[in-house]
Amino acid sequence: MIELVHLNKSYDSKPVLRDVNMTIERGKITVIIGRSGCGKSVLLKLILGLIKPDKGQVFVEGQEITTMGQEEIYKIRRKFGMLFQNAALFDSMTVEENMALPLIEHSDLPYDVIKKRVQEKLSMVGMPEVKDLKPAELSGGMRKRVGLARALMMEPEIVLYDEPTTGLDPIMADVINNIVIGFNENLGITSIVVTHDMGSVYKIADRVAMIQRGIVLFDGTPDALKKTKDPVVRQFIEGKAEGPIKINREIIYTRKEQEEKLL
Ligand SMILES: Nc1ncnc2c1ncn2[C@@H]1O[C@H](COP(=O)(O)OP(=O)(O)O)[C@@H](O)[C@H]1O
Ligand SMILES: [Mg+2]
Repeated sequence: MIELVHLNKSYDSKPVLRDVNMTIERGKITVIIGRSGCGKSVLLKLILGLIKPDKGQVFVEGQEITTMGQEEIYKIRRKFGMLFQNAALFDSMTVEENMALPLIEHSDLPYDVIKKRVQEKLSMVGMPEVKDLKPAELSGGMRKRVGLARALMMEPEIVLYDEPTTGLDPIMADVINNIVIGFNENLGITSIVVTHDMGSVYKIADRVAMIQRGIVLFDGTPDALKKTKDPVVRQFIEGKAEGPIKINREIIYTRKEQEEKLL
């Protein structure tokens, strides 16, 4: 459904993505993992056509979006729903107003139809009674769920999720994961999920791609990920740092001694 071919993107001459190649299959949940700052959010923005690569191509259903003008990109973007990293709700608006906004801006639907759709999508995330609340009145998990419901407002074929479970307790993370699976199984939504939560990977992924130093270092099933012998991939999935910082007592002692000598 989506093809990424030799994607290359730098910021201030610092390469973020150097050569990313990936195929996103229709109807599957593809999870993208990698350390903070490795370019996961940049990758999602490239897929949405919000930014352009320095080199390489993005194809959505065979159409190259990298060379498209704004008008054409808007048409393609209607296929997509997006859950932003911080849910990105407007504080001064109610849940209903927040959710209605994309349809008011991008469709000719009458407001009562939009209101019905808001209600339907809120029910899908298990929160049928929050439409009149403001974001400040919701917990972090509830805000995420409103974000998920809003991502469905344009009835997308593909939903991109940027760190949907980050900052949530394990139970709420599981609720969110179940919603992601539900969207995929019940609505047939092709899903791309960015996360560094390994629990989520094993729970939801049909396929996992790991980005490191601007390339796809691993691409395969969660089972294959568990079994990989690549030491860098293993280090990430096991969450191991380089090891404890070693304090060389000898040197400290010697310095102290030196100070004493100086005194
Ligand atoms: N608009 C921008 N201007 C400059 N640097 C950026 C911009 N967007 C992203 N970057 C840099 O690109 C790198 C990858 O960012 P990002 O994709 O947000 O990482 P993550 O994998 O944590 O989502 C970071 O080093 C970040 O500083
Ligand atoms: Mg990010």
